Amino acid sequence: MSRTLKIFAGSSHPALAKGIAGHVGVRLGKLRVTRFSNENIKIKIEENVRGCDVFVIQTSSPPLSDNLVELLILIDALKFASADRITAVLPYFPYARSDKKDEARISITARLVADLLETAGADRVLTMTLHAPQILGFFRKPADQLLATPILKNHFKRSDLSNSVVVATDAGAGKIAGHFAKRLRLPMAVIDKRRLDDSEKATGTALIGQVEGKDAIIYDDEIATGGSIQEAARILRDFGARRVRVGVTHPVLSGPAVERLQEAKLDELVVTDTIPVPADRVVGLPNLKVLSTAKLFAEAILRIHGGKSVSAMMET
Ligand code: R5P
Repeated sequence: MSRTLKIFAGSSHPALAKGIAGHVGVRLGKLRVTRFSNENIKIKIEENVRGCDVFVIQTSSPPLSDNLVELLILIDALKFASADRITAVLPYFPYARSDKKDEARISITARLVADLLETAGADRVLTMTLHAPQILGFFRKPADQLLATPILKNHFKRSDLSNSVVVATDAGAGKIAGHFAKRLRLPMAVIDKRRLDDSEKATGTALIGQVEGKDAIIYDDEIATGGSIQEAARILRDFGARRVRVGVTHPVLSGPAVERLQEAKLDELVVTDTIPVPADRVVGLPNLKVLSTAKLFAEAILRIHGGKSVSAMMET
């Protein structure tokens, strides 16, 4: 007998959760979250999940720590309510940039998050565009990574790309930018970006590839403080790029991001909805376009439920 598919959502991104459930063709599972005056969180699952194939959607957005703990409690509650299989769906993975020990005596926190998810009871993980693909290896359970490439590709394909070049903001982003460039059949350039300390300020020094007179499409995993995009736009213009367009998966938009992106004077700024963009940020960035990932996540959920390939979705 096949297991019933159910989707539950934490508090981080109700609109995306609703969109995913809608595309899957189910309603969101009922639960009640209580936050006590001592900041403890209680979650009660308000429907039967015994023997079900459950997907739990929670992204990494402010308040980040609260949302992470809420997810862990939710998974634990589902496990002890006898769900048969629990898949944690994390559109933006928490602490994704803490993926290596690049200093003495620090935590690789993305690995810790993987351990916590597993301890809570997650049997699988589904996420999108990790800062570094090796994070998948932090799990001892199956983990699938979607890329926003099909969504962003469809967007950019609607414009004239005959004089375009895809640009990676640094060598680390080269792989996903290369994946994108290949799918758009475009050449690629790479900026030599360095972070000299923890100040979140990135500095670009050189560029590999040809951008003069071209429309550059910067492709990156996330915009956090906007420093990388601001610096990339400056370098591209210095090297003679005609237009600077940007396609990014995760709109973290933290700290001075809005001011920096305004200063960058981008010709286009396209992101996805893996993280909700607060209204003040939308107002500050009138050229911001947010594309939905709901359909892609829904398709991946249906494939996981049906035992079909998820990687096949990324092949086009
Ligand atoms: C590289 O470090 C990443 O691919 C992104 O470029 C980076 O996370 C963006 O951060 P920020 O917007 O603060 O420069």
